[in-house]
Amino acid sequence: MSTNTDTVYLNGKFLPQNQAFVPVMDRGFVFGDGVYEVIPVYGGRLFRLDEHLRRLDDSLTGIRLNNPMSHTEWAEILKQLVNKNGGGEQSVYLQLTRGHAPRDHGFPEDTQATIFISSSPLKPVAEELLKNGVAAISLEDIRWKHCHIKAIALLPNILLRQQAIDAGAQEAILIRDGLITEGAASNLFIVKDGLIKTPPKGPFLLPGITRDLVLELAAANGIKYQESSFGPDELQQADEIWLSSSTKEILPVTRLDDKAVGNGQPGPVWQQMRRLYQDYKQALIAGEVE
Ligand code: PDD
Repeated sequence: MSTNTDTVYLNGKFLPQNQAFVPVMDRGFVFGDGVYEVIPVYGGRLFRLDEHLRRLDDSLTGIRLNNPMSHTEWAEILKQLVNKNGGGEQSVYLQLTRGHAPRDHGFPEDTQATIFISSSPLKPVAEELLKNGVAAISLEDIRWKHCHIKAIALLPNILLRQQAIDAGAQEAILIRDGLITEGAASNLFIVKDGLIKTPPKGPFLLPGITRDLVLELAAANGIKYQESSFGPDELQQADEIWLSSSTKEILPVTRLDDKAVGNGQPGPVWQQMRRLYQDYKQALIAGEVE
């Protein structure tokens, strides 16, 4: 849990969270006009920072907002914040909005972006979830057509996730025009006969940093994978289904729409990938990888 005394960064200043305020006319508050990143921290080190900052650039380009800082400046501020909050395992949240201005849909002129960064302790994924996997339900993807932008406006994702929670599941797996896209807040993988498949990048899914690492680890370890589209039938017939995200790492889905996935237990390819992922984290903590 983050506390009110945790340090946050707001527009050039490090402050206790309970002393950080933004004007009510901030376009993030009024319009959801902004983008964000979530970056995990292990052993005090920011995980795949360059990749996260590059995706931030892409999101900013996607909403036509200039990046007010260089990657070097971002890295410096993020590292300071992580240290101020005690290093270790954290989840860093950063968001930029188009600043505050009288309410008008058109972009304001000469408005400074609002920059906010906070961090909270990153809890290890519960053993129970790793042992038994999680449940998911499939739902129609009701989001917009720019899902590659990590926009703070998450109302569809929130409604979809809550629908999954109400059904006793942890995640909603989304279907657009007959094809699987991703989860409400995660990317998706299936395994069939030892082959990993994940939908290709494009406007209908977020290019997850964890997703990229999974594919990189597969390539480096001779595990076969394919970035290709598939529909609900292949999803239902998969031996394994996984979800990936910065805060949940790689989670096995063992129930889909109230039916067992494969034999209903986390599968062997997931077990192997989980080990590789944990080894990568250890290498990061040891300073052997960035
Ligand atoms: N969400 N797809 C969506 C829609 C997401 O919101 C996320 C992550 C991912 C996975 O991306 P990454 O591996 O880079 O975390 C995919 C974050 C964690 C969140 O909103 O809290």
